[in-house]
Amino acid sequence: MTNEHITATLQSIKAYAAEHHVPIMEDQGIEFLLQLLREQKPESVLEIGAAIGFSAIKVAVALPGCTIDTIERDNGRFHKAVEFIGEAGLEGKIRVFHADALELELKELGSSYDAIFIDAAKGQYDRFFEKYETLLAKGGVLYCDNMKMHGLAEQEISEVPRRKRTMIRNIKQFREKMMAHPDYDTTLLSAGDGIMVCKKKQA
Ligand SMILES: C[S@@+](CC[C@H](N)C(=O)[O-])C[C@H]1O[C@@H](n2cnc3c(N)ncnc32)[C@H](O)[C@@H]1O
Repeated sequence: MTNEHITATLQSIKAYAAEHHVPIMEDQGIEFLLQLLREQKPESVLEIGAAIGFSAIKVAVALPGCTIDTIERDNGRFHKAVEFIGEAGLEGKIRVFHADALELELKELGSSYDAIFIDAAKGQYDRFFEKYETLLAKGGVLYCDNMKMHGLAEQEISEVPRRKRTMIRNIKQFREKMMAHPDYDTTLLSAGDGIMVCKKKQA
């Protein structure tokens, strides 16, 4: 598949996302994530939250030797992701699983990943972590997007709109947990909407 072909698919994805209000990573955030991944050089990535395949395609293009498994629970988005990935000619590199990541059986997936990227329901990151960290190789890296929640997770909880408090509280607690986790070296980066990078220690 040519670069022009992939560029055209990415443009179609962006247009579809804008038209149908599908949240996909912003340019600054995805470019920063790709830079981190290029430095890490994973051979396998698990993504939780495929949406319509934008970030998975970007990762597949940036890391030619890498395979990507990605999970999406929404039926319409799952089918669009499969379609766009096929259009980009990347179906041999990206597998899309149609499931709620909190229900999917781990045996459906690979036994180990060099990187896990969480970009799904924001209040559930700790649950995703507890379920999937067993698949993260030692020395592997967990990346979590939206750790700032557009500034909301930087505010006192009393200043956050009531309907968002549980989600923001969960994000804050998860950040604190990972910062203190003895098995991970964690850094919170302010690029994009805040990317947390948690490197699993070797020993
Ligand atoms: C922010 S979007 C992902 C964007 C995508 N990573 C990108 O940048 O192209 C989050 C997606 O996670 C999905 N999602 C949320 N909770 C999920 C769960 N428990 N299991 C699977 N997918 C989930 C949503 O349906 C949504 O499409």
